[in-house]
Amino acid sequence: MAEPLLVLNGLGKQFGGVQAVKDLSFSIGAAEVVGLIGPNGSGKSTSVNLISGTMPPSHGEIRFAGASVARLSVSERVPLGLARTFQTTSVFPEFSVREQILTACHVRYRSSASGSVFRMASARREERAQRAKTQEILAFVGLSAVADEPASAVSSAQQRLLMIATALATEPRLLLLDEPAAGMVAKERKDLAGVIQRIRERGIAVLVIEHHMGLIMEVCSRIVVLNFGQRIAEGTPADIQRNPAVIDAYLGGAH
Ligand SMILES: Nc1ncnc2c1ncn2[C@@H]1O[C@H](COP(=O)(O)OP(=O)(O)OP(=O)(O)O)[C@@H](O)[C@H]1O
Ligand SMILES: [Mg+2]
Repeated sequence: MAEPLLVLNGLGKQFGGVQAVKDLSFSIGAAEVVGLIGPNGSGKSTSVNLISGTMPPSHGEIRFAGASVARLSVSERVPLGLARTFQTTSVFPEFSVREQILTACHVRYRSSASGSVFRMASARREERAQRAKTQEILAFVGLSAVADEPASAVSSAQQRLLMIATALATEPRLLLLDEPAAGMVAKERKDLAGVIQRIRERGIAVLVIEHHMGLIMEVCSRIVVLNFGQRIAEGTPADIQRNPAVIDAYLGGAH
């Protein structure tokens, strides 16, 4: 049987005396949408940082598309098909929405022609292809109407969609979303759920961290629950909702 797209094996991250992630193992299959939930400080963002390569693990293994990636940098992982968004919105404010996506498209840009005239012709062809791809991604996430606005001028929900669009431009096989619905109202969350479902229909796997349970339950086929850096449960949305350890972890955090 083929190996799952992403396999975490005994992953750990220590910050001084804090064990942010402890002996974490789980896997994600191709085109699977998996939720990563847990109380504040339970190690969700750290897990995404380790998978994306933002920080190295203290121990453990990360396999992606059949290869060991734990020692690769972010820029070495992106071309393999690993892309992420951040918990806090990060866009280039002076770029237009379109320019920001177009810039990310260039991660895939490889002009192979050797002579200068051929290189220019091929670069122009590439540029046209990237512009068409950007146009398609704009429509896909629902940002066509604000394509030429500066990224800083669009709503915070639209900035979150822009982070997803930028990640999609790198043609990921796995997209890591850290609290994509933060600050969104109900209608915006519903649109986001639609975008995540259509991402999966494109054959892209998604790992989504989210505090909004309605969204998690709607889009995920499987959920992994963390508490104090450790996996305390894993299962379908229905399993997780009635899991006593999960209920305990959340109520414990609320007191
Ligand atoms: N760069 C860092 N340096 C030191 N400690 C860190 C760092 N990043 C995270 N931590 C600590 O690691 C633990 C896990 O943090 P993490 O951000 O992964 O939690 P989280 O589950 O994403 O929380 P939240 O729901 O609040 O976003 C926390 O105790 C946090 O203070
Ligand atoms: Mg976090």
